[in-house]
Amino acid sequence: MNYSTTIANEHFDHLLLNAGGIFCESVDQLEKIQHAPGAGAVMTKSATAEKRAGNPNPRYFTYPDHHNTINAMGLPNLGIDYYLDYVLHHQLTLPTILSVVGLSEEEILANLKKIQASGYDGLIELNLSCPNVPGKPQIAYDFDTTDHLLDRIYSFFTGHLGVKLPPYFDMAHFDRIAKILNQYPLAYVNAVNSVGNGLVIDPETDRVVLMAKGGFGGLGGAQIKATALANVRALRLRLKPEIKIIGTGGVTTGRDVYDHLLCGADLVSVGSQLAIEGPSIFQRLEDELEAIFAEKHIESLDQVRGKLKRLDEAE
Ligand code: SIN
Repeated sequence: MNYSTTIANEHFDHLLLNAGGIFCESVDQLEKIQHAPGAGAVMTKSATAEKRAGNPNPRYFTYPDHHNTINAMGLPNLGIDYYLDYVLHHQLTLPTILSVVGLSEEEILANLKKIQASGYDGLIELNLSCPNVPGKPQIAYDFDTTDHLLDRIYSFFTGHLGVKLPPYFDMAHFDRIAKILNQYPLAYVNAVNSVGNGLVIDPETDRVVLMAKGGFGGLGGAQIKATALANVRALRLRLKPEIKIIGTGGVTTGRDVYDHLLCGADLVSVGSQLAIEGPSIFQRLEDELEAIFAEKHIESLDQVRGKLKRLDEAE
């Protein structure tokens, strides 16, 4: 299959990448994704202005079924200078997306100004959806703040920007966020971040499994697939075609990748299952996807991407 896909000025030869937060904090981890067979791109850990330790351990928990997770990482990262140096000065094998975040609007703007001043010309992802920093709400759940922030960003920023969104659960919210995003020259949206503030209880101890935030944390893995697909589909139906979509959430098999494509994803990222299986997962998923294409006699991505049919539509 020809997986060739373009977002802004970046060209991808494969569809899969790591979801933000997984295998992307250190150069050592990032290099493992760069060289993973089947990987098409690399996402760096969302960077704050200064290095952050994140929340106390335990802060990441894998369910006994090995397909689901809950985390309250709290944005541990090595600071914007570290990741900027990586994308500017390392020999990168794959297109690499520089993820940024901020604990205030001013910090976000300062990070983007720094990136712009550096001359970096690749894709940048602004994380508007981390659920795990105590006292800091997920920005993209506040529509007015999101609009105001993007307005301030585009008053000076000329780079290739995508935004990482939280999952939405209401049709009115899909309408609202799409209307805001359509006003700006965004390169893409990444849908979705973890489903915020779930709670997992250990049946042995009757206690929560995470230290921070009283055990509340972002859910990932197979349990969020339907929510992720709904967000990709709802956004694809509402966003202008120039805004591409990275589908994230619930990918454990090639069929999950295929479903993200049907909903309209341009690329697909893998989080929980990558953490569980390691970087060899990309080749497994791509092989499983190839088998589905062969079985269905699909010869081009155009036959699948965004082609999900409703029951009241003709075959
Ligand atoms: C985290 O660091 O808490 C996870 C990343 C995110 O949810 O954006």
